[in-house]
Amino acid sequence: MTEPVLDVHLTPEDAAHALRADVRAGLTADPKWVSPKWFYDAAGSALFEDITRLPEYYPTRAEREVLAGRAGEIAATTGAHSLVELGSGSSEKTRLLLSALRGHGTLREFVPQDVSVSALTEAAHAIMADYPGLRVHGVVGDFTQHLSLLPGESPRLVAFLGGTIGNLIPEEREKFLRTVRDVLEPGEWLLLGTDLVKDERTLVRAYDDAQGVTAQFNRNVLNVLNREVGADFDVEAFEHVALWNAEQEWIEMRLRARRAVRVTLADLGLTVEFREGEELRTEVSAKFREEGVRRELEEGGFSLHRWWTDAAGRFAVSLAQAV
Ligand code: SAH
Ligand code: TRP
Repeated sequence: MTEPVLDVHLTPEDAAHALRADVRAGLTADPKWVSPKWFYDAAGSALFEDITRLPEYYPTRAEREVLAGRAGEIAATTGAHSLVELGSGSSEKTRLLLSALRGHGTLREFVPQDVSVSALTEAAHAIMADYPGLRVHGVVGDFTQHLSLLPGESPRLVAFLGGTIGNLIPEEREKFLRTVRDVLEPGEWLLLGTDLVKDERTLVRAYDDAQGVTAQFNRNVLNVLNREVGADFDVEAFEHVALWNAEQEWIEMRLRARRAVRVTLADLGLTVEFREGEELRTEVSAKFREEGVRRELEEGGFSLHRWWTDAAGRFAVSLAQAV
């Protein structure tokens, strides 16, 4: 089999540099924080795939239900020649779109983009094996930074699935949507997956499962820091916290020190103290309502063409067109 083309806009050196700058800023701030894009080393990407199969984690199944029902309509409406997927991960649900676009006879190229080299490489190989003749052009990059470098033949359909847009705060979302809009021609398409506001218990359980897989995923970011910046976090000294912020309508993930902890980050020449109970903020996962999504899309230069949810109304997929 031929190898997929892989563009690298974020080399391991760039990533290491960005990680060091981020960690220095985040661990010397009050409250302390660490950026979620560092969750996804090979172990983190594998743990995320485990999360998608948990009974409590409904978003993947709900989004798949929508895509399964609507892929034909998406293919017919967009007639896309390339499917560009941001934060593509395993691209597992994306196969529904690839198959529909291929069935429709327009698909020529698939462009998955992710910060995780391991997830991207695995997915690119698997898709090439299962879609003979399809050009697969993977891009290792940061969707908050390297969007202007995306290849793809018009008309393009950009997919951003999994509710990942909710991992950006509102200012970041606004910038992200405008940037995506700027790389598209008027009339090209964005397919956006958003998890929806619902009862608190269902939401919290999706981010704090009984088997503790999400806890392991959250704590894995400390393993990444130990390896990448020579830190000496005792990972077990931190407990996973997921809480619903009703005002912001987002889930917040944190790591709470079970006792006072001193951490040395050798490569940064930095020592950081955690008080007992002090929390490190790791991730938000915003939940949406139709009007909010419509407004954010419009402010970003898109018009909402179709809004679909799963039968239970838990998760939405929006098809929007660049104005
Ligand atoms: N789209 C997949 C995966 C969602 S998990 C799904 O729906 O199941 C989020 C994905 O986004 C991970 O694969 C992670 O590696 C990637 N990611 C996170 N931050 C990123 C960033 N800043 N730039 C590019 N990819 C990012
Ligand atoms: N995009 C996913 C979401 O917001 C990412 C995710 C799932 C996640 N579970 C998590 C991020 C737990 C941090 C911790 O649903």
